[in-house]
Amino acid sequence: MTTIPLGIHDLSFATTHYALDHAVLAERLGVDPDKFYLGIGQDKMSVAAADEDIVTIAAAAAQPILERNGVDNIRTVLLATESGVDQSKAAGLYLHPLIGLPNTARVVELKQACYGGTAGLQFAAGLIARDPSQRVLVIAADIAKYELDSPGEPTQGAAAVAMLVSADPAILRLEPHSGLYSADIMDFWRPNYRTAAMVDGKTSVNAYQKATQEAWTDYRRRGGRDLTEFAAFCYHQPFTKMAYKAHRHLLESQGHTADPAEIDAVIRHTTSYNRTVGNSYTASLYLGLASLLDNADDLTGKPLAFISYGSGSVAEFFSGTVEPGYREHLRTEANRQAIETRAPLDYDHYRELHEAQSPSDGMYHATPEETGRPFRLAAISGHKRIYESR
Ligand code: CAA
Repeated sequence: MTTIPLGIHDLSFATTHYALDHAVLAERLGVDPDKFYLGIGQDKMSVAAADEDIVTIAAAAAQPILERNGVDNIRTVLLATESGVDQSKAAGLYLHPLIGLPNTARVVELKQACYGGTAGLQFAAGLIARDPSQRVLVIAADIAKYELDSPGEPTQGAAAVAMLVSADPAILRLEPHSGLYSADIMDFWRPNYRTAAMVDGKTSVNAYQKATQEAWTDYRRRGGRDLTEFAAFCYHQPFTKMAYKAHRHLLESQGHTADPAEIDAVIRHTTSYNRTVGNSYTASLYLGLASLLDNADDLTGKPLAFISYGSGSVAEFFSGTVEPGYREHLRTEANRQAIETRAPLDYDHYRELHEAQSPSDGMYHATPEETGRPFRLAAISGHKRIYESR
């Protein structure tokens, strides 16, 4: 097992132009807003404007990383998504003209539900272990969409997280141990002919908890740390209450007392951003990491646990330690700005955006100019997506 120091050198996130307040949704659906605030732990959700998609938010997340670190020795770009824009072309290729990606990098799109970003991170680690002079840009970008008026609707959201993975990382050193659990289960999926996901909500919650426990068991069997060693647990957060549920389940399955205050202490700081952004599928776990790093007291040298779950399903439990001086490399102010500057969305416009269909006739279709973010989908013409930067 390799021991060279490698991990996350830089991390940046972006979200969409709009946010829908869960109070608006609760009023229209005729439910108690506390079902959302307390029951699932969500306050708002990011919603894509008519001229946004996963490419525009991926570009916005990755641009600051390239500005700070340059492109030298970025030999691989891995973009994970389950809300991609093309069945063949990797979404990362649209980023070349938008943010100046190098032509001397392989660019690939990864898919396995919400687990795809973790696949990207682990594949990056493998490439860097082979050649530590190389750097890998990993981008996780998703727009989560369920049917209107369905139980999944309040758990929509959108965000992209970009991570520069390298040797001698400035933020987080990945530890070599990793626990895995894969199983064929129909808890959440999206056939090619649908824009909104299919989900069996209760099955998915149970599958997530079982997969967490199994991945943890595999992690321990392979020599990983004890549960009591971690300063915080970053879970995939389809809704923030899920992290609390899964952690309680994990503790109880291992014979630990699930004290609510102790659970809160190791989860709370990972949930601030997800509470207001909503589910960002592949990006959600890494948004949790950004939230933890930006909001917790000094974490230098502390071990963190990561629990990645992608329906269908693949789960991974892995760990990392926080590097000395990491705070100088965070983007706390930019992260807060990305969230605070979202425009409030009214319910009627939300429904209109939700039900809008992509044109499929091959004619020129200009996209309504809505987003105030740095990149936009300007048109679809000849079945091609045309992006522009500001
Ligand atoms: N005040 C406080 N709490 C309230 C309340 C009120 N007025 N009303 C209800 N609640 C509580 C309920 O008691 C319940 O709490 P517990 O879970 O602790 O029992 C909680 O709010 C949710 O209520 P319901 O179970 O009645 O909610 P629901 O059935 O309408 O929907 C859901 C819940 C099934 C998770 C639904 O949101 C859903 O289908 N979401 C999409 C699927 C999903 O996110 N699955 C997660 C695991 S899969 C995964 O992680 C991959 C992925 O990203 C999709």
